[in-house]
Amino acid sequence: MDLFEWDAEYSVGNGELDRQHQRLFQIINELYAALARGETQSSVERALQSLIEYTRSHFAAEEALMLQHKYPGYAAHKRMHDQLLDKVTEYGLRLNQGESDLAADVLPFLIGDWLMNHITVTDKKYAPLLSA
Ligand SMILES: [Fe+2]
Repeated sequence: MDLFEWDAEYSVGNGELDRQHQRLFQIINELYAALARGETQSSVERALQSLIEYTRSHFAAEEALMLQHKYPGYAAHKRMHDQLLDKVTEYGLRLNQGESDLAADVLPFLIGDWLMNHITVTDKKYAPLLSA
């Protein structure tokens, strides 16, 4: 069973973005499971790298749709995306150098700031516009 499950109440009113959010939940769950299984540092780093790559294309898709729908909160939302990406990229680098701990630093950030705050709160704000 997944630890952090996407729920229909998180829907942002767009099927493609909802699928991408579900995939993000899945990748973060996989990362958590890899860590719980005690997998090697390199496989955990690879999982984090795939999360970063997926996120980059997901944010780009979300931003394109917000622009297309002339979402008034676009600039602030884009800044949050840039900050999230900067932070997760920095964690990836620090993890490579053995300066960051996935369980203590990276996962709480991914789960709290990202899944629980960005997707379920911030992203929900553009939902009425996209589903209109
Ligand atoms: Fe977003």
